[in-house]
Amino acid sequence: MLRDEDRIFTNLYGFEDFRLEAARRRGDWDNTQDILALGRDRIIELVKESGLRGRGGAGFSTGMKWSFMPKKSDGGPVYLVVNADEGEPGTCKDRDILRHDPHKLVEGCLIAGFAIGATACYIYIRGEFYDEGSHVQQAIDEAYAAGLIGRNACGSGYDFDIYLHRGAGAYICGEETALIESLEGKKGQPRNKPPFPAMAGLYARPTTVNNVETIAVVPTILRRGATWFAGLGRPKNSGTKVFCISGHVNRPCNVEEEMGIPLRELVEKHAGGVRGGWDNLLAIIPGGSSVPMLPRETCDTVLMDFDSLREVRSGLGTAAVIVMDRSTDVVKAIARLSKFYMHESCGQCTPCREGTGWMWRVMERMVKGQARIEEIDMLLDVSKEIEGHTICALGDAAAWPIQGLIRNFRPEMERRILEYRTRAERGTRAAAE
Ligand SMILES: Cc1cc2nc3c(=O)[nH]c(=O)nc-3n(C[C@H](O)[C@H](O)[C@H](O)COP(=O)(O)O)c2cc1C
Ligand code: SF4
Repeated sequence: MLRDEDRIFTNLYGFEDFRLEAARRRGDWDNTQDILALGRDRIIELVKESGLRGRGGAGFSTGMKWSFMPKKSDGGPVYLVVNADEGEPGTCKDRDILRHDPHKLVEGCLIAGFAIGATACYIYIRGEFYDEGSHVQQAIDEAYAAGLIGRNACGSGYDFDIYLHRGAGAYICGEETALIESLEGKKGQPRNKPPFPAMAGLYARPTTVNNVETIAVVPTILRRGATWFAGLGRPKNSGTKVFCISGHVNRPCNVEEEMGIPLRELVEKHAGGVRGGWDNLLAIIPGGSSVPMLPRETCDTVLMDFDSLREVRSGLGTAAVIVMDRSTDVVKAIARLSKFYMHESCGQCTPCREGTGWMWRVMERMVKGQARIEEIDMLLDVSKEIEGHTICALGDAAAWPIQGLIRNFRPEMERRILEYRTRAERGTRAAAE
């Protein structure tokens, strides 16, 4: 369990004020100039050594991503874009950082921006986060007024501007290239990669896109040391992580914990356990709605980090833990997620545009058992035709929950179909008699 002194987000619950004075008391903006004095290359090296992996879902090495940015300036602008779109169902971690600890993010933007040679930063925040946006804007304004950002930021000689941009509430705009398009004022639709944003991103200029939590942990890593961060969790899965625990638990919550904490411990220590006790657990979606669910037996022992969850054919994703007890209609739950992905598909690629709707319609029939047994395999086949065959990962996100359902609850799906068939046959017989 994470020790209190290792906690990065000390105001996650908003018990203290979010503004500059209180943030400074919590250690933010403490000698930021010294961190910048380390220089671009050293900062990137340290972030690599810390083992930090992106907290937006894919878990890509942050230091590595930064190192893809051009080393020499061609005189044109270079951008840092912070992804504060947070639309993944079950996920509400960035929200607490934005509203209760925005200075951690603003300071992180300055350091990350400096490390990648950015001239400016855009924070793209989902439109529904009204108060959160206003807290971030206040933090930006305070940082300008105190000389922490803007011209000669923190007295470092580096000029750096931060702009807040409010999105209009489309899940797909959280995908990094769609986000860039949306920032440019276009329809938020993903672009094919390559070129990756580091080559041609915002306004076709070199750009790094990072999640809020990824950026907000950077100042503390550099203050406390890469070795400290790397020492938490397991190799290649280091640091602390904000987990969002929701669903059938006694106390849903957000909590910062050490990466690699056993799932069972996370749920029992922080969320008051599963409603009705651990034995009443049916399944858990461990990383936001896009990742395959885990059956009860796997939940008993699995560790909450990127590699452990991959080994059990799921993923850490956004670390949003959705708990389902035995009262859950698990087929209906996944059918609801299918509807979400169908609704959020931007429609550019045929497998996603047509496939998400097709899967949802079949899932709706599966809920009632109005299907043929062979259609379970057909559904699985179609999900595999979508997975990996689309421009962006929304196609995978739509396919994985269904694959997880079939892998773990096929007997339940078959039971419904047989039950429906028996009922239908009885009805026909009764009508004939
Ligand atoms: C459909 C879709 C929605 C996404 N939504 C978000 C989001 O809301 N926030 C986020 O940080 N990343 C989101 N991502 C992941 C981003 O594309 C990108 O990988 C991430 O912002 C990179 O930051 P990181 O390296 O710090 O994790 C989404 C990806 C997809 C495919
Ligand atoms: S996978 Fe879906 S959401 Fe992503 S680009 Fe294709 S159609 Fe759009």
